Amino acid sequence: MGYRFTRDDVGYLGSAIGGDALAEVGQLELTTATHLRDLERVRRAHGDRAAALIETVRLRRRAAAKLLDAGQWLLTDDALQQATPTLVARQRAARLAGRTVHDVTCSIGAELAELARVCPAVLGSDLDEVRLAIAAHNLGPRRLGAGERSARATATGPSEETRNVLLARADALRPSSRDTVVIADPARRADGRRTHDPAKLQPPLPDLLAAYAGRDLAVKCAPGLDFDRLDWSGEVEVVSLDGSVREACLWSSGLAERGVRRRATVLSSEVGGWSITDAESDDIEERAPGQWIIDPDGAVVRAGLVRHYAAKHGLWQLDPRIAYLTGDTVPEGVRGFRILDRMDFREKALRAELHRRDCGPLEILARGVDIDPDALRARLKPRGTRPHTLVITRIGRAATVFLCATP
Ligand SMILES: C[S@@+](CC[C@H](N)C(=O)[O-])C[C@H]1O[C@@H](n2cnc3c(N)ncnc32)[C@H](O)[C@@H]1O
Repeated sequence: MGYRFTRDDVGYLGSAIGGDALAEVGQLELTTATHLRDLERVRRAHGDRAAALIETVRLRRRAAAKLLDAGQWLLTDDALQQATPTLVARQRAARLAGRTVHDVTCSIGAELAELARVCPAVLGSDLDEVRLAIAAHNLGPRRLGAGERSARATATGPSEETRNVLLARADALRPSSRDTVVIADPARRADGRRTHDPAKLQPPLPDLLAAYAGRDLAVKCAPGLDFDRLDWSGEVEVVSLDGSVREACLWSSGLAERGVRRRATVLSSEVGGWSITDAESDDIEERAPGQWIIDPDGAVVRAGLVRHYAAKHGLWQLDPRIAYLTGDTVPEGVRGFRILDRMDFREKALRAELHRRDCGPLEILARGVDIDPDALRARLKPRGTRPHTLVITRIGRAATVFLCATP
């Protein structure tokens, strides 16, 4: 839950005095081992501001991996957890470049900061006044990172800094702008617990969709959302970052690419990203396994685009109902498993084969079979020196194991 910041805290932390105090506290280790000593020191120097100062420094350190320009930002624990990672927000903003965009659940401004880079004007609103005050600080002129001089924020009232970001307190369910693209990111917590029920999001997804019917709208949702049951006529984009599926974004028809209903976007902090859509071919052959097994990125699997991905890269499926792919080459930048052997899944025979191959570290991937990889590894007792990977899956009716070299 973390420290509960007030508007007064935000005013102080955003002031010149608060900024100096944060810089000073930022020099401290603030580890579990030094906590008491550090707290005592900050209390002596800054009295009852100590908790807000320490929490802010800790949050900034945690934010660094997720929010790339947040070195000088103010944050709250919940808002940081809810914030869209910069690379995901940047990718969405790129699709909206040049438009006027209203983020109707803007929180502390993680999406707004990216939109402000590429849009002529952006509006941000939220119900939470503390978060709005934080957003005003975060989007202020000196905090958008190098090269963003044109991007400025107003506080929640008039300001001479007004340029292309305007913030206001407003209920997302009562549209307060016209002719803008609307983006929303309903909170996934209700009563302190995570929810997957669209009606329990804040604001509720069905109400949000009804409030903006006919508008150009992009709504960020949990990747676990059952979008096949949602009567959505636009595009659903599933996004992963560094191998982990982060969100499903609903794009209204006006913002979707022609003919696209499903898209997987795979982002990487190291090498950029790529997308695949259901407008591409999914024509693949049925063939015996090739030399390699490829486990497609979770965004591709979640978006239902495994066959499209296979067709694009000259791969085919191990089995039509299973998301593992196979082929004689591995797409660039992808971790492929070279098949050494294939056998029916029988533990005793498998244990003997692993022993014969001097198998040591053992990675186990299982799909379509009821197997607990950790429990199986313990039973197989690989005690050798050579790393191997087992891909265990169902081919037709038979549980099959592919013994592979670990990449
Ligand atoms: C998941 S957060 C948004 C995070 C934001 N996209 C970011 O990247 O920082 C959801 C926000 O919706 C706000 N909210 C909830 N119900 C709302 C409503 N009816 N109107 C406006 N904002 C609302 C919450 O206060 C919260 O800040």
